Amino acid sequence: MHTVTLIPGDGIGPSIAEAACRVIEATGVKIAWEVAQAGVAAIEQYKDPIPQVTIESIQKNKIALKGPLTTLSGKGYRSINVALRKEFDLYINLRPAKSFEGVASRYANVDLVMIRENIEEFYSGIEHYVDAQKSAAETIGIVTRFGSERIVRAAFDYARKHGRKKVTIVHKANIMKFSGGLFLEVAREVAQKYPDIGCEDRIVDNMAMQLVLDPYQFDVIVTTNLFGDILSDLCSGLVGGLGLAPGANIGTNAAIFEAVHGSAPDIAGKNIANPCAIILAGAMMLIHLGELDAAAKINTAVAKVLEEGTHVTRDLNKQSTTGTMEMADEIIKTIRSNA
Ligand code: NAI
Repeated sequence: MHTVTLIPGDGIGPSIAEAACRVIEATGVKIAWEVAQAGVAAIEQYKDPIPQVTIESIQKNKIALKGPLTTLSGKGYRSINVALRKEFDLYINLRPAKSFEGVASRYANVDLVMIRENIEEFYSGIEHYVDAQKSAAETIGIVTRFGSERIVRAAFDYARKHGRKKVTIVHKANIMKFSGGLFLEVAREVAQKYPDIGCEDRIVDNMAMQLVLDPYQFDVIVTTNLFGDILSDLCSGLVGGLGLAPGANIGTNAAIFEAVHGSAPDIAGKNIANPCAIILAGAMMLIHLGELDAAAKINTAVAKVLEEGTHVTRDLNKQSTTGTMEMADEIIKTIRSNA
């Protein structure tokens, strides 16, 4: 039996999180979910977007499955997602983008892994208006040797462990000569310790174009926080969209699994959100827990339901009337029939 902290989140979060829990349960793995709140739901209940009980639950269990959390743009409290990543030093943001048969997208057989530095740079939250009239604002992005080294090492270790051939370092060292320059310098140093893995670097703007033109030239990608955030959404667009993009935030002592997407307020409450991203994040969580068979059952069942293409949500098939839970039910049915 594993005890896992479950943060349902807000917007489409609670419905997709429930779908993921039911799919995980169908694999037969025994999980005791410890439900904890964060963000909007926590403010309603505790008047605190990140209550101590939630922190303590993750501290104790060392693992969480999290629905998306809304962060208002330009006002309100700081991102709780960023705060949780900092609190538990979850410095690796692992975001695979893999094609599925049956999903209409620009390319078939894409298989990329984005490894994004998750704590530093422009997400440090060091920012302010320079004067009372708010005539200018400043955001400070700190990149450290320590932070760069450990994320690049994580990327090369991942490549080695998973039989990947190449790591592409993405940066903007031509313009940000200090922060970008330090990241690139350290990344090249680390790369030398992995002679068995290919290594190249790309400036981020060129990288964005190259990914759209020919994603097959890339394998594992490692980059700083902001670029990784943007490029991982781009990568999800190459394989059918955010509804299929899972992610993991991993540190030395804890890990939080979630979808790459956010709370999708434009579709919340409509029963049309695709539950696959968080379900696939659930499979990543099971691998982290050593439950490899259960994870494989989920991945196989999701792939089959997507390939059949009939019980999928509207983002994947415009004619479809299948809702969030109906798609999860189809995945559960497939897991049971494969057993
Ligand atoms: P979003 O990822 O929530 O939505 C972007 C677009 O993708 C929307 O059109 C949405 O309908 C669609 N989409 C997202 N997930 C989908 C799904 N499962 N099925 C079908 N369509 C889906 O990004 P947006 O709108 O920029 O952000 C909304 C809120 O989410 C913001 O407050 C943002 O801060 C927060 N956010 C939270 C994240 C997290 O909790 N890790 C990550 C990204 C954003």
